Amino acid sequence: MYSPKLIVVSNRLPFVLKKNSEDELERVPSAGGLVTAVGPVVIQGNGLWVGWPGPNYKSGTPIPESSPEDASPSAKLLSSNIIPVEIDQNLMNNFYNGCCNATFWPLFHLMPDKAVFNVDYWQAFRKANFLFAETVISALNKQSKKSTEKESTLIWLHDYHLMLAANTIREVVHKTTITGIELEEFHILTAPDLKNANFKLAFFLHIPFPPWDILRIFPWVDDLLQGLLGNDMIGFHTKDYCMNFIECCRRGLKCRVDTENLLVEHGARTIKVCPLPIGVPYERFQELARNASNVIKEPGIKLILGVDRLDYTKGIQNRLLGFQRLLEKKPDLIGKVTLLQIAVPSRQDVKEYQDLKEAMDKLVGNINGQFSTPKWSPIRYIFGTVRQEELAGYYRDSDVALITPFRDGMNLVAKEFVSCQIKNPPGVLIISPFAGAAEQMEEALIANPYEIDDIVDTLIRALEMPNDEKMLRINYLKQREQSQDVHFWMKSFLKVMGEIIESDGEDIRP
Ligand code: ADP
Ligand code: G6P
Repeated sequence: MYSPKLIVVSNRLPFVLKKNSEDELERVPSAGGLVTAVGPVVIQGNGLWVGWPGPNYKSGTPIPESSPEDASPSAKLLSSNIIPVEIDQNLMNNFYNGCCNATFWPLFHLMPDKAVFNVDYWQAFRKANFLFAETVISALNKQSKKSTEKESTLIWLHDYHLMLAANTIREVVHKTTITGIELEEFHILTAPDLKNANFKLAFFLHIPFPPWDILRIFPWVDDLLQGLLGNDMIGFHTKDYCMNFIECCRRGLKCRVDTENLLVEHGARTIKVCPLPIGVPYERFQELARNASNVIKEPGIKLILGVDRLDYTKGIQNRLLGFQRLLEKKPDLIGKVTLLQIAVPSRQDVKEYQDLKEAMDKLVGNINGQFSTPKWSPIRYIFGTVRQEELAGYYRDSDVALITPFRDGMNLVAKEFVSCQIKNPPGVLIISPFAGAAEQMEEALIANPYEIDDIVDTLIRALEMPNDEKMLRINYLKQREQSQDVHFWMKSFLKVMGEIIESDGEDIRP
């Protein structure tokens, strides 16, 4: 197995730094598939994780170790494994709230009408990517000074926040000009020790990649594609996203492409494109489900579950409208079924997200006002973060998981729900065909979130499904999630990188 020194780079570190009552910084871990899969490899190989520790971090402040009570997957990451990137508030506003979440997020989720195009956002995006690249280069410098032998390093960049970083790293190392960047705006970088450094650059996109007709709306599309092509390998969740990316390179940059072997030629280099559907820590969720306390459930009342970040791509309002129409169509279900919607607050500085919060509060109020009885309310709505231990109990004890994104890169909630099904009869999964996960999860029920009546009919089918059919479907779904879990994803990634190195040597070409 290829086991390089790993430098993982993501916008967020696996924890946020918050001030405690003594005004000291401490880690607040964020759960997530990425840290579960990648964390152990970073720890074992004494690798590094580069990222933003949150707004409380100021350059030069030491990163605290995790507290002894911290049992999260990131707890074992020592401060020596962490390289923080400080981003000031003004830059963060234009980079993260602006370009990442008001431009790329809606555009890549096929909602161009919601996307804001603004040159200041784009400049901030380039600047932030430059800062990340700069930090990676100093990490490489440190590593190459420390290492006695000619070790190979794998720089693994994650997600849409960092789409330009690879090209910048490559250009700085090879001392070529940074395409289109007015250098005086930035620190001038030199990388004297890296001429002979052995490293590869890989990128994984956790959200969908749009087709050319959508991507071309972005005014600086060529720079964006060139930024991505600075990598040696680019991974996506599905084959469709891979094909979209390859087609964008062919149409936008006139690259030569090989759609059979998923290759893009760019200058003298060939970039490998690869579908790598992420999984979840299946065994961990099984254990959480076995140990979770019972969810308070009225006897005889069925539970439909929704779990999401509060995001307009998740189709939560249509889910609620579907549930409302179900109760109108089948009044015998009044008092017999509850929808539990758990929504984590997300990106609250972005207007679309504030609007969604308001619209949700109103809709939940309307539906509850329409149907509630003195003893029962149709919707239980939690606006907040729930601990994974508790979440596993909700997954386990729900009769139906209703997952209705208009578009979703993968959707881990669907996989976590399946991994927690340990009861007999198990729950039924309903998923939108527009979530990446639906491509693999053939045995789930499919509901089109744009068609409210389809949500209603699919809910009825799920609520009335015979127990043996539920069991048959969930067993297939569980087998797949168990064998293609998050560790399988990590191994598959390392295997692809190993093959790339074997076929073209360890040097990178400018
Ligand atoms: P996205 O990456 O767009 O947020 P995913 O479904 O792929 O969507 O991943 C969401 C992750 O956030 C899952 O791991 C899920 O367990 C977690 N999550 C979602 N809602 C909550 C919540 N209310 N409390 C805690 N964790 C949550
Ligand atoms: C999606 C993105 C991640 C992001 C997460 C939470 O999963 O793919 O990169 O970290 O949402 O969003 P946030 O904006 O809070 O980081």
